[in-house]
Amino acid sequence: MSTNSEKPTPLLAARGLAKSHGRTRALRGASVELRAGEILAVTGASGSGKSTLLHCLAGIVRPDEGSVVYGDTRLDGLPEKRLSELRRTDFGVVFQFGQLIPELTALDNVALPLLLAGASRRDAHVRAGQWLERFGVLGQEELRPGEMSGGQAQRVSLARALVTGPKVVFADEPTGALDSLAGEQVMSALVHTARESGTAVLLITHDAQVAAYADREVQLRDGAVVPLGVAA
Ligand SMILES: Nc1ncnc2c1ncn2[C@@H]1O[C@H](COP(=O)(O)OP(=O)(O)OP(=O)(O)O)[C@@H](O)[C@H]1O
Ligand SMILES: [Mg+2]
Repeated sequence: MSTNSEKPTPLLAARGLAKSHGRTRALRGASVELRAGEILAVTGASGSGKSTLLHCLAGIVRPDEGSVVYGDTRLDGLPEKRLSELRRTDFGVVFQFGQLIPELTALDNVALPLLLAGASRRDAHVRAGQWLERFGVLGQEELRPGEMSGGQAQRVSLARALVTGPKVVFADEPTGALDSLAGEQVMSALVHTARESGTAVLLITHDAQVAAYADREVQLRDGAVVPLGVAA
């Protein structure tokens, strides 16, 4: 039980993560906490390990060392079947390079997580349409990813990540392909949605204006979080 004088228990906590891709040490002892409902920005130079950290926290990549704890569940040792179930119910992910399904239209891409969760086709399409509207891409429902601009694909990816009402959204450079006005629109929609539903957001960004939407910012350098006071 936490009291007022204690820090709230984190919703998601990574401790001492190490991860190598071949001979590249992408993470070297990274630790980070995300509290319920918190919007946390992760910044750092290209190659500092941000995407790798996000993939470990979201249970997509298993760290070589360290632990990832979500609520009272340790993700890094969880069997794949339970991990993918938990990812489907509790997490929404916006990948840095889109990863929409190329054969499906925008509407079907966003509806897919709902269909997997057992919604009817009709209900899934209605809700998917509402999310596309929220992110300003209504009218493009029938486009396939190959026919969309980078910015449209990012908005569709955000809609897909949020459509199931996850507890945590992981967004890797969600405004990277948008101009600053469109970036602001997407960020306000994301922040508004997160605040309204109490969703925690881990947001990777290079952009200080985007990071300013977060409650807190941590910076990665060479695969580890820069201690407070050393950043800048
Ligand atoms: N699948 C992979 N295979 C080999 N090396 C990889 C792989 N993924 C990442 N790396 C390497 O690990 C390091 C960290 O990569 P990561 O993608 O986590 O960085 P990042 O901070 O997200 O960078 P960016 O800002 O450019 O997206 C880099 O040196 C990268 O080249
Ligand atoms: Mg990256």
